[in-house]
Parts: sequence; structure tokens; C-alpha cells
Amino acid sequence: MRRVYVYKGFERFWHWSQASLIIFLALTGFEVHGTFDILGFEYAARYHRVASWMLIGLIVFAIFWHFVTGEWKQYIPTTKNLMDQIRFYSYGMFKGEKHPTNKTEVKKLNPLQRLVYLGFKLVLIPVTVISGILYMFHKTIDRNDIVVINEFSLESLAFWHTLGAFLLMIFLVIHVYMTTTGHTPTSNIQAMITGYEDLEDEEDKTTEKSGTPE
Ligand code: HEM
Repeated sequence: MRRVYVYKGFERFWHWSQASLIIFLALTGFEVHGTFDILGFEYAARYHRVASWMLIGLIVFAIFWHFVTGEWKQYIPTTKNLMDQIRFYSYGMFKGEKHPTNKTEVKKLNPLQRLVYLGFKLVLIPVTVISGILYMFHKTIDRNDIVVINEFSLESLAFWHTLGAFLLMIFLVIHVYMTTTGHTPTSNIQAMITGYEDLEDEEDKTTEKSGTPE
């Protein structure tokens, strides 16, 4: 094993602030939805909007960071070892089998993570954020009687936004569970806090140099 700096400072900041904002947006959003009553509708709606602008700002910085550092390449999907990875998570790990893929600093994500995180970034987050922005302006513009975004009914925007919110919550639960499947139950979480993780030494040097997926 060798100690490797896997997650850079910005990456960790982005990960934890995105997680906190999504949880906060879920709490305030589901209060707006009427699921529970803690802050009261007015405050919940107000804080939801403030947090949503913070999330949009964070996403802009994260897109910039991914392209400037070339980290976007980590998410290029691959089918190589995909079935092995699914098999491992389904029952291999319960029988104490070894991880079918090796993690390195330039190959941080296994084939299943690549696919799931790409879907998260390209589908789930955009559906929730775009429907949220349209929801926001639909209401504001409506309030002033100047209806510009009238192609989308408020009901359909609320539907897509709430669907995105539900899927994000499902993602969160599965994601937190999956973090415990590293070398030790807390090794992945510790790595996202400190940046460092103990990784196996036998990675493929050629892939590591080229930085391209398998
Ligand atoms: C940039 C991102 C987002 C924007 C711009 C946004 C915007 C909005 C707006 C404008 C509303 C209507 C309430 C109001 O008038 O203030 C709303 C409601 C809601 N939001 Fe968001 N939101 C965003 C992200 C999220 C996230 C990440 C979640 C959950 C994980 C979420 C969950 C909800 C829920 C459940 C509702 C209630 C929907 C309904 O029943 O009508 N939102 N959002």
C-alpha cells in the first residue's frame, strides 16, 4: 500500500459544499412541498432560493475546475470491468472478494462510478437545477403579470423539480452506503476529508502516465 493524495483541496471543498447545499435544499424544498413544517413556508422558500444561487455558483466553479485541470476525463465511461464491478457490489464483496479494479490518482473512479456520476452531472443535476430556475422565474414573472415562460406549466416544472429532488435523495442514500465499501468502512470518507488514501501499489503504470481510461 502507498499513501496517495487523491482528492485536491478544491475537489473536497466542492464535494462537501455540494452535499451540504443539496441536503439543505432538500429540507427547505420538501417543506415548500408541504412534507413537514419547521421553518414555515415563507422562510423555507426564501432560504431555498438563497441556497439555490449558492449551488449554481458552485456548479459554475466546478465546471471550470474540471476543464482547467482535465479532471473531466475521470468521468469518461467505459464498459471494461463494468460487469465485474456490478458483480462485486452485488455479492462478491459479501464473500470477501478483492476489488476487481484498482484505484489510482489518475483513475479514481471505477467503471460503475464513472457511469453513475456522469448521469448525476449530466442528467440529474441539470434536470433539478434547470426546472428550479424555470420554477423561480415562472413565479417571479407571473407575479408581475408578465408571463414569459408560459410554454411550461407550473405543474410540470414542479413535477420535474420534485422528481429530481426525490432521485437526488435516493442517490444520496445509496452513495453514503457505497462509501463504506472501500478497503475499510471509513477509508473513502476519510480520503474525501483529508485528501489522502492508502492505495494498492500494483496499478498499471501505462494507464497512470497517459491519464486515459481503460
Ligand atoms: C439551483 C438549484 C435549484 C433551484 C434554482 C431551485 C428552485 C426552486 C423554486 C423556485 C422552488 C419553488 C419554491 C419557491 O417559490 O421558492 C423550488 C421548490 C422545491 N425544490 Fe428546489 N431548487 C433548486 C434545487 C433543489 C434541490 C437540489 C432540491 C432537492 C434535493 C430541491 C427540492 C425542491 C422541492 C422538493 C421543492 C418543492 C416542489 C413543489 O412541491 O412545488 N430543489 N425549488
